Amino acid sequence: MTEKRSAPATIAAQALGWIEPVTRAVVPPLHPSTTFARDEDGGYGSGRVYARADSPAYDQAEAVLAELEGGAAAALFASGSAAASALFLALDPGDHVIIPPVMYWSLRTWLLTFATRWGLAVEVVDPADLDAVRAAVRAGKTKLIWVETPANPLWSISDIAALATIAHGAGARLAVDSTVQTPVLTRPLALGADIVMHSATKYLNGHSDVVAGALVTAVDDEFWRRIKLNRVQMGGILGPFEAWLLLRGIRTLYARVPLACRSAQLLAERLSEHPKVLEVLYPGLPGFPGHEIAKRQMSGGFGAMLSFRVRGGEAAAIATAARVKLWTRATSLGGVESFIEHRASIEGPTSPVPPDLLRLSVGLEAVEDLLADLSGALDGAGD
Ligand SMILES: Cc1ncc(COP(=O)(O)O)c(C=O)c1O
Repeated sequence: MTEKRSAPATIAAQALGWIEPVTRAVVPPLHPSTTFARDEDGGYGSGRVYARADSPAYDQAEAVLAELEGGAAAALFASGSAAASALFLALDPGDHVIIPPVMYWSLRTWLLTFATRWGLAVEVVDPADLDAVRAAVRAGKTKLIWVETPANPLWSISDIAALATIAHGAGARLAVDSTVQTPVLTRPLALGADIVMHSATKYLNGHSDVVAGALVTAVDDEFWRRIKLNRVQMGGILGPFEAWLLLRGIRTLYARVPLACRSAQLLAERLSEHPKVLEVLYPGLPGFPGHEIAKRQMSGGFGAMLSFRVRGGEAAAIATAARVKLWTRATSLGGVESFIEHRASIEGPTSPVPPDLLRLSVGLEAVEDLLADLSGALDGAGD
């Protein structure tokens, strides 16, 4: 008889149910040791040598993440940026990669500067235009299509299954920055993606107290081994305490994300009706481009990130953010507390973000409090 596979919420809450064998502890011990003793014959009976190469602090969180994403293996990194750069640098100079115009801005900047100087042929193509992607891929030359869905901070949706077909047809991989949707809402590997990336700083950890990153691969192949070697050799490793905190955060993921999504949906609907709001960007709104794809590939919610444009331009948007009392004016996302951010001023002059846009990361507060605070701040606009 085959054992029934537990639901993802169960896997996360119990962190796979691992029990520490020596003490029977249900919470894993913290392993700060940087090195591991050799046997008398010079061998490494524990299988461990040095913590930059292989830390026991990662084992459980990586196993849980691989299981939640339905992958063959996962790897933790010092940040989402360290995870993404380890992946891109596992390609070869000269390889062609396709990236979207809207994506986490700092990674886009790195790709168009450092990675391009290093030798990657980086081309920006809108992944919503599948014909444009088909026309851009070069068989044998394109090695990676990178998408972020929903894409920060306009929340554009990419069709993972369609892009995976195009990538595979050209002999390329599809990598998905899944930070915002989390495995709770979408499992990109099941839709055909090859690698999933997370800024684990956000929802996976969920408490605004850890910077971390993760990759999950569909197959444990030569390319994955290159990525893992990049982590060892370039040293973008996560500290053991951060890995421990991250695992603790993941355990409540399936309770946090649906609640935050429900609040985000309600806020998006209410903000759409507010006379001082020009436009609301949220994949859960029926009129939003990509809503139909989002309905197909996301389940249980459309994410807890949304943006809205304030009538009156940049000054009105900044003044609205200045008037909130409950929301915190801060960057980042995915924490239990809600953030509001004037995005264009952090991304700088090359940003595709409209200057009147405010980005919201919806947390776990009572939604009526969040709504009342925002409505009050908007009502004051133009006073
Ligand atoms: C969607 C997305 N991807 C990647 C990153 C980079 O992650 P980190 O800050 O952990 O390096 C961020 C950070 O804001 C992000 O929002």
